[in-house]
Amino acid sequence: MRQETYHGVPRSKIPWGPTIDYEKCISCGKCADYCTLGVYTSEEKNGKKRSVVKNPNNCVVFCTGCEEQCPVSAIVFPSKKETRELIRKLQKQKNDSEDCLKNNEVKKTVKQAYGKIAAERNTGSCCSCGCGDQSAAQEISKSIGYSDEELNVVPEANLGLGCGNPTALGKLKEGDVVLDLGSGAGFDSFLAAKKVGASGKVIGVDMTEEMVNKAKSIAAKHGYANVEFRLGDIENLPVESGSVDVVISNCVINLAPDKSRVFSEAYRVLRSGGRMYVSDIVLLKELSDKQKNDSELLCGCVAGALLKDDYVREIERAGFEVKILSEDTEISERQYNGIALESLKLAATKKS
Ligand SMILES: C[S@@+](CC[C@H](N)C(=O)[O-])C[C@H]1O[C@@H](n2cnc3c(N)ncnc32)[C@H](O)[C@@H]1O
Ligand code: SF4
Ligand code: SF4
Repeated sequence: MRQETYHGVPRSKIPWGPTIDYEKCISCGKCADYCTLGVYTSEEKNGKKRSVVKNPNNCVVFCTGCEEQCPVSAIVFPSKKETRELIRKLQKQKNDSEDCLKNNEVKKTVKQAYGKIAAERNTGSCCSCGCGDQSAAQEISKSIGYSDEELNVVPEANLGLGCGNPTALGKLKEGDVVLDLGSGAGFDSFLAAKKVGASGKVIGVDMTEEMVNKAKSIAAKHGYANVEFRLGDIENLPVESGSVDVVISNCVINLAPDKSRVFSEAYRVLRSGGRMYVSDIVLLKELSDKQKNDSELLCGCVAGALLKDDYVREIERAGFEVKILSEDTEISERQYNGIALESLKLAATKKS
């Protein structure tokens, strides 16, 4: 009787069938005679005829006919354990590739949105209200913690896309190597560059080419020799392990589909005892499915955000010690149409 499943798994997913144990096989040919599906064939070896498995995938596992025909139990099928392991592996591969496709789609959408902001506007806004003029950006930047002095350092690098002021969250000292995750047009990188001085260095990483180009041209224009902008994904940092003193990030990690990967990459590149200062949007309540699938909300730093506790847990899981520094809940009314979220500012230390 034809069976379409084997140990509860569809046959089509199992890429193997019977094998013959030639230690036992007495070359009676009964298996090949019995099976009409072309699984077996006969061949000559040393002047003797014997059965061989020719098309294992033709086996409709598990009619058991050939096994019953075999007088010496020489036919071997994969065990339940092997089958389960294989199925688990196949299932994981399938899920991983589906996640990968989905994550690539998310990144493509985010890149397009920020590429447009970098190319078309001098100011943009991460908020969902869609505002984007210079004075709005200045207002936003003041409200999220930048001083007038900071706003005047490299104003054209301020696209109004942040949700905090990460370089103000902790001490950056002369000589520090700083990494800015999702550096955009480089506003925070330039502020960091001033603090670490000529003996220090700032690396800005962003996956949007237009942003990186914009940041590079601003750096050249203002003669920043201690800042370097690299095109790259913060889930796979183009940065050497253990080479960074301080990681900063401003309103970016919410956009990355695999946040645990971002945090473990940050952990990898930091030296032992290194710190990370993050300002990011986190949710205070689950979003609706409609909100989660809204690409405008995704690019506006909302739809990809995690619940606050999950966010902190992910950072701790990467090996950091986390200290919440402040929480701006008013940003919700100011910039996000009252959606239940906040801007979370935290310091995370790579334990020595
Ligand atoms: C809201 S903007 C913030 C930019 C900058 N931190 C600031 O405060 O002006 C988000 C930036 O993160 C970048 N980005 C988003 N996901 C990224 C990823 N997976 N890897 C690298 N950059 C990413 C975008 O290209 C964009 O420039
Ligand atoms: S189990 Fe059935 S279908 Fe599979 S090889 Fe044996 S006889 Fe052929
Ligand atoms: S039925 Fe068994 S002994 Fe006979 S040829 Fe097939 S495997 Fe060998």
